[in-house]
Amino acid sequence: MATSSLSVTDNRTGKTYELPISDGTIKAIDLRAIKTDADDFGLMTYDPAFMNTAACRSAITYIDGDKGILRYRGYPIEQIADKATFLEVAYLLAEGELPTQAQLDKWTHNITYHTYVHTNVIKFLEGFRYDAHPMGMLLGAVGALSTFYPDAKHIEDPANRYVQRVRLLAKIPTIAAFAFRHSRGLPYEFPRNDLDYIGNYVNMMFSIGGKHEPNPVLQRALEILLILHADHEQNCSTSAVRAVGSSHVDPFSAISAGIAALYGPLHGGANEAVLEMLEEIGDKKNIPAFIEKVKKGDGRLMGFGHRVYKSYDPRAKLIKRVADEVFAETGLNPKLEIALELERIALEDEYFIKRKLYPNVDFYSGLIYQAMGYPTDYFTVLFAVGRLPGWLAQWEEMLMDKDQKIARPRQIYTGQDERPYVAIEKR
Ligand code: CMC
Repeated sequence: MATSSLSVTDNRTGKTYELPISDGTIKAIDLRAIKTDADDFGLMTYDPAFMNTAACRSAITYIDGDKGILRYRGYPIEQIADKATFLEVAYLLAEGELPTQAQLDKWTHNITYHTYVHTNVIKFLEGFRYDAHPMGMLLGAVGALSTFYPDAKHIEDPANRYVQRVRLLAKIPTIAAFAFRHSRGLPYEFPRNDLDYIGNYVNMMFSIGGKHEPNPVLQRALEILLILHADHEQNCSTSAVRAVGSSHVDPFSAISAGIAALYGPLHGGANEAVLEMLEEIGDKKNIPAFIEKVKKGDGRLMGFGHRVYKSYDPRAKLIKRVADEVFAETGLNPKLEIALELERIALEDEYFIKRKLYPNVDFYSGLIYQAMGYPTDYFTVLFAVGRLPGWLAQWEEMLMDKDQKIARPRQIYTGQDERPYVAIEKR
């Protein structure tokens, strides 16, 4: 009869060990019992970049990378993107269930009434150079928020954690909008409590002289894009939030670590890099040469490939649909033609087929953001606003998980053996 264990024979000693298997994993710590002698530290696993290591148990987001499935708390992303609002999704990720009307009303009210930031945050933002990257501004300002809310360090108190979640969800769009206005030299537009979450965010960005004509199609498109980014289980920025949060620092500091991780071009910065790549290609006729360059290892096809998805990213499929609706309002983004042709050629090319490289969430999102009027360097900020509910839900889950401790990987030391200190004149 099959048992849920793994028999391992250590050929150094001839000893056999039984390692229990649960949820398709063995516990790395069980390997520690495998030793050559009593002084041996015991076996470890070597897994740079966590290619095959589950670092937590999570009930938030399910991904099947081969089948292209993404679910938030069990709900298919297609249904969520079609029906839910962003704040409903934030509630679902945090609480595990969709809110009732009364729960949603309370949640929305709380977030709406925390949207203002201390005026010193404004002074802080004003101190950035006129051309500061908005992601640098966002990560600096969110880190700085911890100094405005020293009570946030009481992470052991659930009521306190709730307040900080509300504050972050309420204030990050405000800071993100201020960063946008800063780059344009426009006065900051304050939050309006009579508008909904997305309406207020867009108004803070685009209102001129207190006036902005909302476009419901573009606002819903932005909401769908934010929903599609809301969580993606243990990605680089979420792992950063979990790792930094595992030191029991306040959530503002942990979330600013997530923003820093997202900034990188291999993660959230890819949407910005896609647009730069499309600009570099410039014309459809240059695509074959560009693909050849990538295949030779000179650069990457940005917006392609994923650590988990080995088929079409379900978010990219939905984003393509949103793109049609947005371009019907704004007129076609001329770079779309290049992107579509690039995708067509790449998907027929042996190099990309063999490596299972498909468009990811970042391939088309930048084209939409650009058509909506956002500058390229602002795209990752939109990703951060969207990903915030996921970071918060994962932070909470990490703190509640009895298996978790401070994140502290092991290493294989490859440096010098002990040697005597050499005086400076003898070096
Ligand atoms: N263009 C060309 N080749 C690629 C690409 C790409 N975009 N992505 C992977 N490869 C190749 C890579 O060179 C390697 O080839 P070989 O086996 O010959 O060495 C193979 O595919 C496997 O790549 P990898 O780097 O080992 O895969 P990974 O899981 O470590 O990387 C990735 C995943 C997303 C970082 C990578 O696919 C990439 O750099 N993509 C471009 C950047 C991008 O679009 N990032 C956004 C990711 S989705 C949203 C998000 O997380 O923010």
